[in-house]
This record gives sequence, structure tokens and C-alpha cells, in this order.
Amino acid sequence: MKATTRVVTGGFTAALLVAGFVGVASAKNKLTLYCSPQIEWCNLMVEAFQKETGIEVAMTRKSSGETFAQIKAESRNPKGDVWWGGTGDPHLQAAEEGLTQPYMTPMRPQLHDWALSQAKSADDKTIGIYAGALGFGYNKEILEKNGLPVPACWKDLLKPEYKGHVQMANPNSSGTAYTTLATMVQLFGEDGGFEYMKGLHKNINTYTKSGSAPIKSAARGENTIGIVFLHDAVTQAVSGFPIVPVAPCEGTGYEIGSMSIIKDARNLEEAKKFYDFALRKEIQERAKEAKAYQVMSNKSAVPPEQAPKLESIKLIDYDFKKYGSSDERRRLLAKWDAEVKSLPK
Ligand code: G6P
Repeated sequence: MKATTRVVTGGFTAALLVAGFVGVASAKNKLTLYCSPQIEWCNLMVEAFQKETGIEVAMTRKSSGETFAQIKAESRNPKGDVWWGGTGDPHLQAAEEGLTQPYMTPMRPQLHDWALSQAKSADDKTIGIYAGALGFGYNKEILEKNGLPVPACWKDLLKPEYKGHVQMANPNSSGTAYTTLATMVQLFGEDGGFEYMKGLHKNINTYTKSGSAPIKSAARGENTIGIVFLHDAVTQAVSGFPIVPVAPCEGTGYEIGSMSIIKDARNLEEAKKFYDFALRKEIQERAKEAKAYQVMSNKSAVPPEQAPKLESIKLIDYDFKKYGSSDERRRLLAKWDAEVKSLPK
């Protein structure tokens, strides 16, 4: 009887060990990453993380607003583990709506205050990974060929001679474009901001899905002026295209590109590993290999010399808490759809 028990116990233990091992092995080796910055940087991060940890990463790149919508749609059965990058407002909205979960990373002491204040606004359900100022860029050759004046201010973009020459993304899908909308409301007041967006609408040739697309098409010569983050204009200039970045004279908004762990992530330990990894100095410094010129959140990360100097740009005191709140973001987007997008050109 005793012997039998022992055998049974031994067998049971062995079975448990095997199950445990299989469980640990499969959980230890996978991460599903939702990525919202430029694809080149997403790919670099995936390769670097896989190489260091052996964890296999399945990555999808989608714009910030689109990723928010996907995480919300999947919330009953979450498929993603980490949402890395993209503008901070929809990350804050995801936190408020309980779509992401808190994590206190040991990397906190190494981060700039602006990265931590993003975390504070969201009860540690998100954190800042980079910052960048909004602006626009133009293709100098196309501008000259069309005999157009050089734009220096936001209000310049309303001039009738720019009709069909300006491109921005749709603020529903793109965080860049939502930052633009929220910036105008903060710069010119709600009524003034919407008047501005309506005036701009007359000059817009296309609303793209992704935020950086307007400056990529300007680089290819298919568009003249793109409203984008300044670092995205710098990327094109550094790549040899005749793109000139402009920090608008009235002042401008900025983003705190953020990172969040998705609620009920299936691979939580791997998600935390990625989170800590993405905040390390030497990992953030690799962004320039992908021609990503944001300012990084790790205080020791040396910015590439091409990165726009935020301290030399007139930045507004962007109210992330307000414009990243669920009610405000939903309200502004619905209002833009109803009062701007639907207008004839
Ligand atoms: C570009 C910028 C990022 C920004 C992202 C937002 O990739 O370089 O700094 O966070 O756009 O993308 P989206 O497509 O949502 O505007």
C-alpha cells in the first residue's frame, strides 16, 4: 500500500513537473507586442529584445488611435501583452478605461520627470518612453516649383494658395493628428481651434491613416506640406530628401510617447521584461539606428545630434490629463468628424 502510494505520488509529482515545465517554457518564450512608432524602430526593438532574451515576439504596427481601438475591442479576450510607443493621450485613455494594468518598473529612478508624470496621471498604468514636438515640414523643391510662400506659422497653412498642398492624418486613427487637434484647441481656444481645423480642411488633400505618412509623401514628391512631429520631418531630411522641418511661430504641442501593459496580458513576466528593457539607456540610444529622433525618457540616454532641441521650441503647456481623458478625447473626435471632416472642401 505504502509502496503503491509512493509510486502514485512520484508519478503525480513527475506529471506536475512536466506540466509545470511545459507551462513555464511556453509562457517564457512569447510576447505579443503592439507597436505604434515608425515600423523601422519597431523592428529594431523586436530584434534586439529577441536577441537578448530568446523571447519570441509577435509584433503588429498600427497607429495610436487604431491600437487603442483594437485593445478595446479585444478587452474580453486580450491578445496583446505590451503596447509600446505612440502618442500618450490614447495610452491615458486606455488606463482610464481599465484596458491596461499598473506596473512599477525598477527603472523609474533613471527617467525624466515628464516620463514619470505620465505614469502618475494614469496610476502607473503607463509611462513615458520618448517626447517630440509637433510641427510641420515642407518639400522645398515642390514649394519653389509652385511659387508658394515659405510657411512659418500654423496660421500660414490657412492661406488659399496652399489649397491641395497640405496633408495630415485622421485624428481618429492617428495620435499625431489627435495631438494636432488638441494643440489647436489649447493654442486658440475651443472655438478658435475648430475654426482653424475647418480652415485647414479646405487646404487638405488627403487625411492619411498614419501620422508620419504626410511627410513621407512630401519626401516622395507627392505632397507639399505635412503636419507631423518635427522628428518625423527630420528623418526625411536626414535621409536626403528636400524636406525642411518648421517649428510654428505661435508655439506648438508635443507628445509623450508612452508604453503600457495590457490588462490580463497572457505573458505578463515577458511583458515586464520588455518594459524594463525599453527604458534602458543603451536600448533607447539605438533609436537613431532606425532614424528615430525623439527625445528619450532615460535621463542618461544621449540624444542624437539631429534630434530637434525641445528647449529651443516654443512649447505649450499641453494638458495631457485633460486631452488624454476618455470623455475629452471621444468628444473632440466626434466633434471633428461632425464639424470638420464632413465639410465640403
Ligand atoms: C510617428 C512618430 C512617433 C509618434 C507616432 C504616432 O511614428 O515618430 O513619435 O508617436 O508617429 O503615430 P500615429 O500614426 O498614431 O500618428
